[in-house]
Amino acid sequence: MTPPHENPGLRVWVADDAAAAAAHVADVVARFVNETERPVLGLATGRTPLAVYAKLAERRAASAVSFQNAVSFNLDEYVGLDARSPHSFAAYMRRHFVDATDVFSGNVHVPNGRAQDLAGEARAYEARIKAAGGIGLQLLSIGANGHIGFNEPGTPFDARTHVATLAPETLHANRGDLPDPPPRQALTMGIATILEARAIVLLATGAAKAEAVRACLEGEPDVACPASALQGHPDVLVVLDRGAASLLTRG
Ligand code: PGA
Repeated sequence: MTPPHENPGLRVWVADDAAAAAAHVADVVARFVNETERPVLGLATGRTPLAVYAKLAERRAASAVSFQNAVSFNLDEYVGLDARSPHSFAAYMRRHFVDATDVFSGNVHVPNGRAQDLAGEARAYEARIKAAGGIGLQLLSIGANGHIGFNEPGTPFDARTHVATLAPETLHANRGDLPDPPPRQALTMGIATILEARAIVLLATGAAKAEAVRACLEGEPDVACPASALQGHPDVLVVLDRGAASLLTRG
């Protein structure tokens, strides 16, 4: 795999603060959507992308972007949570994307965490992505343990959409958003699924992500840091604030 400093397709952009980083990512997403006839987005949930969705909603309100032709596929969903549960990622997407922009709700895809046959749902999700033409731009955040989607440390880089067991640190990090008892598993795009996106933009903010960002960009690609798989992708933009960039040494 090409080391990051030798991969011209991997670029890092450090913003002054988290708001500027999110605004930059929103610009990248809006430009992709505006310039693509049938934009297919891969989307992420969690706290980090909230500011990106807020910026996209602002741009929609100003008629600076339209999602009417866009299709999206979320990275993941908790197993066992109904789409109507306020804790589900389906509900998150309704709140922060569907209700906030002009995207058609039927074009916003989230894996079904309540499917009877989860392996079948995983295969069907992959087939839906393929039928849409593949993901053009994938938005990612990173866990403090280096996960992307719910691909926790140890996940092979060739994994496709699958049922994953949440790492204890992930359950701890997300505890404020989860019901009691929390779900223990999620249906997640695999690393290989993510790497098939034609372009990827990863947003990380805050010093709590600094070590994961360092391992992602400057460590040897290794399953211990799932995000380090991105080093082999030809078109990745990593957008950071100063805190998330604070342990980078290569300038
Ligand atoms: P966060 O989650 O944005 O809520 O920190 C990131 C992630 O787990 O990928």
